[in-house]
Amino acid sequence: MTNQVSMSTALHFPSDFTWGVATSAYQIEGAAAVDGRGPSIWDTFTHTAGKVIDGSNGDVACDHYHRYAEDVENIAALNVSAYRFSISWSRVQPSGHGAWNEKGFDFYSRLLDKLAEKNIAAHVTLYHWDLPQVLQDNGGWLNRDTASHFAVYAAEVARRFGARVASIATHNEPWCTANLGYGNGQFAPGFKDPVAALQVSHHLLLSHGLAMTAMRAVKSPAKLGIVLNQWTAMPATDSPADKAEAEWEYARSVQWFMDPIFKGSYPQIALDRMDQSLFIVFENDLKIIHQKLDFLGVNYYVRAFVSTENPPRKPEGKLGFTDMGWEIYPQGLSDLLIGLHREYQEYDLPPIYITENGMASADKLEDAKVDDQIRIEYLNRHLAAVAHAMEQGVGIRSYFYWSLMDNFEWNSGYAKRFGLIYVDYATQQRTMKESAYWYRDFIEAQKSF
Ligand code: FCB
Repeated sequence: MTNQVSMSTALHFPSDFTWGVATSAYQIEGAAAVDGRGPSIWDTFTHTAGKVIDGSNGDVACDHYHRYAEDVENIAALNVSAYRFSISWSRVQPSGHGAWNEKGFDFYSRLLDKLAEKNIAAHVTLYHWDLPQVLQDNGGWLNRDTASHFAVYAAEVARRFGARVASIATHNEPWCTANLGYGNGQFAPGFKDPVAALQVSHHLLLSHGLAMTAMRAVKSPAKLGIVLNQWTAMPATDSPADKAEAEWEYARSVQWFMDPIFKGSYPQIALDRMDQSLFIVFENDLKIIHQKLDFLGVNYYVRAFVSTENPPRKPEGKLGFTDMGWEIYPQGLSDLLIGLHREYQEYDLPPIYITENGMASADKLEDAKVDDQIRIEYLNRHLAAVAHAMEQGVGIRSYFYWSLMDNFEWNSGYAKRFGLIYVDYATQQRTMKESAYWYRDFIEAQKSF
């Protein structure tokens, strides 16, 4: 197949750079009540009226639980050498503590076998937002005990699978769990309590630290780290108010998670602006959180464009907006990476994996073809941004496109398509989009440099 958007021949990545695609359990697996899986907060949330735009849920999703072999064949056909996916905690430990579900572990074992057969490295995420409902019934991430349960689960996965996977990330985007799950209610469990969100963010970080210790203790050979969603915060104008607000936005979103992990403290600018009596941090917590990582996963979609005017100024969007309404702003990716490198290099910043980057577009399947030129252009520009950051000295080892295939996009349901592969949900038929062919050929071309 040919592409209308020409491939950038100027981009040369190192020969050991890892190319991958990413998914998460609840978004693709389906088989919600199969083989002993317990319910998670996303089952509860999606089955509550009014929470998901199209009223859908992940009961079936892409039926990956049953079609994983075909999906791994497709991953291999993309030429990538790595696959990032998450383990559903309630599939392997239905109550979130206590008994393990062997059938759940068996599924991931089969998946790992299939990946190994195709020479595809597995990059596992332990928590991509699907907390076992039983733990939620006991307070979820507001309950400090959840952090201890998470560490037990992490160690068990590392003990069983540590030698079969390339990396294990504790959390995916704790910012979302805290702020969308507990702060504004867009995501499960659907609370609207910013103060709770603060406490939750601390417990998530604590759980990360406890899990790191527990996984190191079982001597997992896998690389261990965390995945954070990040953005640069740019003031809409040069006004002091916009600048101050942008600084605050960066502090509460990016530094709020980076600083405890890498510096062992919360960012002062954020602490100054919040009522510290509202959240409880035990004396040793920051020591537990502040541990050396083997990698940092960075997910990038959009910059924050910060305006204090009323109504707020909007970004111009020179390159357009995605189907999510997110501004296409590749420069934000290089700005972000270069900024992280500058700020955290002296604090043991490990190699960076770009664990997610991608876009939703209103794709149509016509004559067995999905002509998503806009995604090709998006990919091309964002890969150029990654290359630029690397030229500036940022240590980036891998890039994972989000997502392998269209899937259940949380509160947007199935309406938003992020995949390189189109999924017809009525038939579960998969069709490679033009962007899939482009990515495949791009990776192939890299091999010849
Ligand atoms: C990220 C999530 C991922 C997907 C993309 C579009 O925030 O980690 O599951 O929903 O956004």
